[in-house]
Amino acid sequence: MAKSPLITGLDIGTSTIKILVAVKKAQSSDLEVLYAGQKPSFGVRRGVIVDAEEVARCVKNAVKDAELGVGQEIDSFYVNIGGSHIFCAMSHGLVSVSRADQKISEEDINRVLLAAQTISLSSNKEIIDVYPREFIVDGEGGVKDATGMQGVRLEVEVLLVAGFSPYLRTLDQAILKSDYKIMHRLPSIIADAKSILSAQQKELGVAILDIGAATSSLAVYEEGDLIHMAVLPIGSANITNDIAIGLKTDVEIAEKIKIEKGTCSSKGGTKKIKADAEKEEGPVFSQKIISKIIQDRVLEIFDLVNKELKKIGRDKKLPSGIILCGGGAKLPKIEELAKKEFKLTAKIGTPRGFANIDGDPAFATVCGLALEGAELEEDGQKGEESGSFIKGAGGAIVKFIKNLIP
Ligand SMILES: Nc1ncnc2c1ncn2[C@@H]1O[C@H](COP(=O)(O)OP(=O)(O)OP(=O)(O)O)[C@@H](O)[C@H]1O
Ligand SMILES: [Mg+2]
Repeated sequence: MAKSPLITGLDIGTSTIKILVAVKKAQSSDLEVLYAGQKPSFGVRRGVIVDAEEVARCVKNAVKDAELGVGQEIDSFYVNIGGSHIFCAMSHGLVSVSRADQKISEEDINRVLLAAQTISLSSNKEIIDVYPREFIVDGEGGVKDATGMQGVRLEVEVLLVAGFSPYLRTLDQAILKSDYKIMHRLPSIIADAKSILSAQQKELGVAILDIGAATSSLAVYEEGDLIHMAVLPIGSANITNDIAIGLKTDVEIAEKIKIEKGTCSSKGGTKKIKADAEKEEGPVFSQKIISKIIQDRVLEIFDLVNKELKKIGRDKKLPSGIILCGGGAKLPKIEELAKKEFKLTAKIGTPRGFANIDGDPAFATVCGLALEGAELEEDGQKGEESGSFIKGAGGAIVKFIKNLIP
């Protein structure tokens, strides 16, 4: 019997590179995880690759470990796009239905989606993905799938996700230098949403917030569709830096204090404690001080997120609340603080149905990338069989998947 092809997700983060190798389970759309691991990341600043050589080296190291883990060679992967250069914009497309019998065909859908992409972006920006929100057939809106309907005039409202072209090229270069192939790239927060959010949450209205090391990414879904996304240039490493400055200590010690003693609870004694009770030297501080430093920075992140929610009129108005993920969401009591600040239900999100990752919210992106891979490969097979347009996950239209493969 033929072996199932490996599906590999690769999340190039600012602090760590995470890799997850999976295969599709027989007679099911679920994934079986064969390997999940992480390595320190170098050459990435605020989610953006600044040194392609360095990143290629880190990618090679991470993939080598994974190859040893699964006992098979890996040749390609689904990779994230990070950084606050990624933005979204609404757009509108309009075409006339082409068939004489006025039945809307897949070709009409593709044409109207292309029409929606002809917006004027500055020359160094490019569209990453297109998310249709509604089709409008002869003025009648709210149509989710217009194929087969009858009409003369076909319109579409879409959310475009775009980014800064030079940063996207550097990502491609880094992977090329590592001698592997990119199958597809996806903004980290879209991958997070794939692995964590349920269809019901997306239908009712939900926000997902990934607090990474140097960036915090937000996506908002309603009626099943992506309605907003943003990447903010601030993350959990800012908390570490604040602790280092506040306690006048090294960043490494500050990181250890954050992970071992950090909390978002405002309760905390004034009794002096040491970072390492065994050692004589090192900073002396109170739990109250640490909690205050952490709370201030987390509140700053939440404030920026609330401003994004206000922009789209969804602050305090998401029935399924806000779901937190990323390594920065591992701070104890962060849900309580989020509930209070957003006036919404708040939970830590963990990737659903993935073994070997211990429910770690920092693995949400890489799990979503593997899920995207599994869906695209299935759609690709179906597309090849039927010769139809390849539709990607979450309604995104995968435009040039094959062109990315060198
Ligand atoms: N137990 C913990 N408590 C608090 N913070 C933690 C914990 N574990 C990890 N972190 C923090 O999470 C951050 C790393 O998260 P993550 O792996 O999601 O970031 P990344 O993907 O590398 O970065 P980015 O998405 O910004 O490019 C680090 O700043 C780390 O200090
Ligand atoms: Mg990340």
